[in-house]
Amino acid sequence: MIIRNVNLETVCGITSMLPENTLPEIAFAGKSNVGKSSLINALINRKSYARISATPGKTQTINFYNINEEMYLVDLPGYGYAKVSEQEKVKWGQLIERYLHGSKQLQAVFLLIDIRHDPSANDKMMYDWIVAQGYYPIIIATKLDKIKRSQIDKQIKAIKTGLNLVPGTKIIPFSSVTKQGRDDIWDLVESEYLIEEEVEQTDEN
Ligand code: GTP
Ligand code: MG
Repeated sequence: MIIRNVNLETVCGITSMLPENTLPEIAFAGKSNVGKSSLINALINRKSYARISATPGKTQTINFYNINEEMYLVDLPGYGYAKVSEQEKVKWGQLIERYLHGSKQLQAVFLLIDIRHDPSANDKMMYDWIVAQGYYPIIIATKLDKIKRSQIDKQIKAIKTGLNLVPGTKIIPFSSVTKQGRDDIWDLVESEYLIEEEVEQTDEN
């Protein structure tokens, strides 16, 4: 994908109306601090357009990034952030649910899992829940630069088993430091989820 322009077009909080977009949307879910905003920055070739933070709980809204007036990358709030009150957790959950359930343009959901750790109960819940909404999430195993090469296969297996992935589910190892995996993600998005509708040519005479 050649990135010509990026615009953070819509920011939705717990009380916001969600936009009724007409362009395809690709969403990124995952626990707080797993690297969703960093991944979006890597995909759009920017250092810090999507705000990132070492402190979990940075993205508390659903952020819609318009890419080339062609599509949206959608940054979802992270779950599993301990310091947030129960009440807030419920509200963010409802916001994410409202989006996944209600979006008419959502083409694919990527679920990010830290490659260093076995999936948590929250990750498993999120995975099952995305599947229940009718999507088959693609897994992105983040922070690839943080483990030794020799551990990659073992950790990928742990993710497969821990989430009990539907057979055939794609897992893409990724690092926002080395950008490894970036092109695989774009290739997949472009080949499977941005299939352009055939424009019918009509002769007007
Ligand atoms: P929330 O907005 O809180 O849900 O977090 P997030 O999932 O958007 O995570 P974010 O992109 O803000 O990254 C969290 C921290 O992890 C930051 O300090 C990033 O620099 C770091 N980080 C993200 N991806 C990578 C990666 O691939 N490798 C390494 N080494 N660090 C990463
Ligand atoms: Mg974020």
